[in-house]
Amino acid sequence: MKITSQFLRDKYLNFFKERGHAVIKSASLIPENDPSVLFTTAGMHPLIPYLLGQKHPNGTRLTDVQKCVRTGDIEEVGDDSHLTFFEMLGNWSLGDYFNHESIKWSYEFLTSPQYLGLDVNRLSVTVFAGDSDAKRDEDSASVWEQCGIPKERIFYLPKKNNWWIAGTTGPCGPDTEIFWDTGKPKCSDHCDPSCDCGKYLEIWNNVFMQFNRQADGTYLPLKQKNVDTGMGLERTVCVLNGMKSVYDIDLFQGALAKIQQLSGKQYSQDEQTTKAMRIIADHVRTATFLLGDPVGVVPSNVDQGYVLRRLIRRAVRKANSLDMPKGSIAEIAKVYIEVYKDAYPELTANADKIIDELNKEEDKFSKTLVAGEKEFFKVISHIQGKVVPGGTAFKLYDTFGFPVEMTEELAAENGYTVDVEGFKQKFAEHQAKSHAGSEQRFKGGMAEGGGQETTYLHTATHLLQAALRKVLGDEVKQKGSNITPERLRFDFSFGRPMTADEIAQTESLVNQAIQRKLAITCEEMPIEEARKTGAIGLFGDRYGEVVKVYTMGDFSKEICGGPHANNTGDLGRFVITKEQSSSSGVRRIKAELRKD
Ligand code: SER
Repeated sequence: MKITSQFLRDKYLNFFKERGHAVIKSASLIPENDPSVLFTTAGMHPLIPYLLGQKHPNGTRLTDVQKCVRTGDIEEVGDDSHLTFFEMLGNWSLGDYFNHESIKWSYEFLTSPQYLGLDVNRLSVTVFAGDSDAKRDEDSASVWEQCGIPKERIFYLPKKNNWWIAGTTGPCGPDTEIFWDTGKPKCSDHCDPSCDCGKYLEIWNNVFMQFNRQADGTYLPLKQKNVDTGMGLERTVCVLNGMKSVYDIDLFQGALAKIQQLSGKQYSQDEQTTKAMRIIADHVRTATFLLGDPVGVVPSNVDQGYVLRRLIRRAVRKANSLDMPKGSIAEIAKVYIEVYKDAYPELTANADKIIDELNKEEDKFSKTLVAGEKEFFKVISHIQGKVVPGGTAFKLYDTFGFPVEMTEELAAENGYTVDVEGFKQKFAEHQAKSHAGSEQRFKGGMAEGGGQETTYLHTATHLLQAALRKVLGDEVKQKGSNITPERLRFDFSFGRPMTADEIAQTESLVNQAIQRKLAITCEEMPIEEARKTGAIGLFGDRYGEVVKVYTMGDFSKEICGGPHANNTGDLGRFVITKEQSSSSGVRRIKAELRKD
């Protein structure tokens, strides 16, 4: 039986729905109120406040398919397994059931003929071996045994393998991982699921979250015991179909066919072509999802915009190396918009933006790509040794629009390396601040700090949106929000620059709302009811979902996940520091809360 992506999504969500889980929608790829990471990297990321004990409006049992972006292994993309975008199927217990139910359900879902019907003889599992932080998970092992996994296929592994945490602090715990035996022979007598020879492939990770890791490395018990499971969709579809590469699954076939058609080359004609086509297929897919996200991001030189630019430009360079005509990137994106039209209708809704931004970025870069490559080859024909100077990398960046990672890749293809430190120095001389900030965040992980500041700025964002609607009218709708501990950034639909007077009025309305010390209350209700109360917010297609509505006196009523201040009086003085264009028809405001 061929397992398709939609089959797996449906089976999974239905299985957990039948077991009392509320199906929730994927959160945005851009964490809206978490400045510590650039992208949502796992299903648990948007749920962190609830894992920590906040009440979720949809209850204590949830299931979802979460869009994720991970760029840490971007250099590996093009091999059989790495992707920068993926979907993660998850089921969640927020202080409800624990390891027993979780394991039994995983077993049932995988092996029951009504669901995936997998051969139990090909399943192996790992559990936590125990250390000074947490005990050996014999309990989980015995549940696996009761299910029917024999002792010799239950492996105890240390923290390195069987412990999950996003970044360095926050909710975490021991996990049990489920592996599929590909049928390859063992590579040695020691071969077990921790071995990467390809015999065992992980398909599911069930985390028993019961600790909160502190910055000093200690583990405090969480208020509640949670379960966080994650099953990578693309990977699992690949493994269960016995395919060799994740690019063989249904989701990529349309895009790869399009790439072959546009380039006039065969996917498997040689290794280099296969790799280039996979990179294009992967990067265009990720770019399509980032551009089509409800929060959304456009190519730029900082933060998420920089990653997006890097993905698109790398795809453009690979497309160029395969002699694909101009406009190819957008053509491939169109294939994805179609492929995902049911699972992710936001891509269709934002199709114009996606196509337009991809074409713009391709246009911009293809003007300088060839000249930049020429410059690169000119330089390496003159230098002694095998290191491309930092100054050259900077010139390629500054004049020809080459992300430094692209120069490194180009260098590597020709047997050179790049003096990246030298590049950074040159870069710092020019525009130190913005890039250093984003670079730290590139490393991923959850940085600490900024909790209260970001909460207050988040509350201020609601006041700002309400004030803008009073000053400019109801056409103002949120298009994006990003908060760091220092400032808020709010994007909204509006067709022209604001006048100085309108900016002053907006600022003053927000400050009046702060001075009036309005109480902030939160109510949970079905989304239809929220709409009737006049609450603003993203309604989308979340029919039937229960949402939180935050009310700030008579000033603002908005659907939102929180958290918020308890009273507007806590915020401080609100100052708009910038009003500028964000993209066509969208304005951007930056603002701060000052303590004076
Ligand atoms: N958070 C875990 C993971 O990403 C399980 O969902 O694998």
